[in-house]
Amino acid sequence: MTGAHLEASGIKVRFGDFAALDGVDLSVRRGELVTLLGPSGCGKTTLLRVIAGFQQQGAGHITVGGRSLDGIPPEGRNFGMVFQSYAVFPHMSVADNVAYGLTARGVRGADRARRVQAALERVQLGALAARHPEALSGGQKQRVGLARAMVIEPDLLLMDEPLSNLDALLRIEMRREIRLMQRELGITTIYVTHDQEEALAISDRIAVMRQGKLLQIAPPEEVFEASAHAFVADFIGGCNWFDATLAPGPDGDAVALAEGPRFVLPRGKDRPGDRPAGPVRVALRNEDLRLCDAPGALPCLSGQVLMRAYMGHRTRLHLRLASGATMDADVPSGAALPAEGEVVHLEFHPDRARLFTREAGPVDGWRIA
Ligand SMILES: Nc1ncnc2c1ncn2[C@@H]1O[C@H](COP(=O)(O)OP(=O)(O)OP(=O)(O)O)[C@@H](O)[C@H]1O
Ligand SMILES: [Mg+2]
Repeated sequence: MTGAHLEASGIKVRFGDFAALDGVDLSVRRGELVTLLGPSGCGKTTLLRVIAGFQQQGAGHITVGGRSLDGIPPEGRNFGMVFQSYAVFPHMSVADNVAYGLTARGVRGADRARRVQAALERVQLGALAARHPEALSGGQKQRVGLARAMVIEPDLLLMDEPLSNLDALLRIEMRREIRLMQRELGITTIYVTHDQEEALAISDRIAVMRQGKLLQIAPPEEVFEASAHAFVADFIGGCNWFDATLAPGPDGDAVALAEGPRFVLPRGKDRPGDRPAGPVRVALRNEDLRLCDAPGALPCLSGQVLMRAYMGHRTRLHLRLASGATMDADVPSGAALPAEGEVVHLEFHPDRARLFTREAGPVDGWRIA
């Protein structure tokens, strides 16, 4: 990528026979916040550790600001780091913890005090500057770590699930503060989470990883709306999956779900390439299904409501279809909702159906059709 601030290419890490990172390329622009998202064990922390210099890669290169990181120890990289487990200095006050990196960089006196206080206020610890870490909760320690990493305005900020020990409300507040501070200071950031909602909310781009590989890197809307792989679609937001066959025809691609519904997708500008005839998988998001009185012009699935789960504005219907398969649909809570046991009809617009074809290659799975 031209103008990339961080450029990692072909990164491989093996632990014995196991490939923790299997050829990862990642470019991050200056001032950008990129999230690494993926299931436990996919290699997120390993990638951060390689970038930070704590883990030597078996292959591949990394540059930051055009400078190769080869042979540069962690302490020579001017990166800020916040880890999964808090790493605060127990013998120093909160303020001294946060001041540490500034002192090491020759910032002194009133300037240092002002920056430390501003960073502490950002993470809502302004009143606890004099405390020692043993008198802090886990979430407070995590926030000391955050303030300490950001206050030095690092060349690169690496955050590994920095909010994992916080309660739900504080998590949302803190992620907003991180984002505001990151933008204001223009700090290039790589942020690890396995919380898809957090990734959607905070990122300029999301990099979805699986088994040591990066599957897709794109802005949140694109990862969500135009997932490149079935795995990505499923990981971001969850989908209902249907086996189907595709038959190209003069008017477009005819799709027939094994569950019954059929529809035709016109060949539009937003559909990449020609789709080959044959088996496909169709993904429908819960929110793309609408209750209707009876099957009509739109493709429609019918099933029995097994369970209703109220979620505030929306209610999740868990249904069993004629085939015995189950699926979920999220419908507005306000409307008259079907009772458990009732048979309902759910229609969807063909545009909302995502098609995936079998994917050849090292990652077993399905790729966007
Ligand atoms: N030092 C090590 N020795 C052997 N295997 C390791 C080592 N460090 C990591 N691994 C393995 O490499 C894989 C990737 O680990 P990593 O910590 O990067 O995952 P992660 O994506 O951060 O997961 P989580 O979301 O659980 O933090 C895992 O299978 C892990 O067991
Ligand atoms: Mg990890």
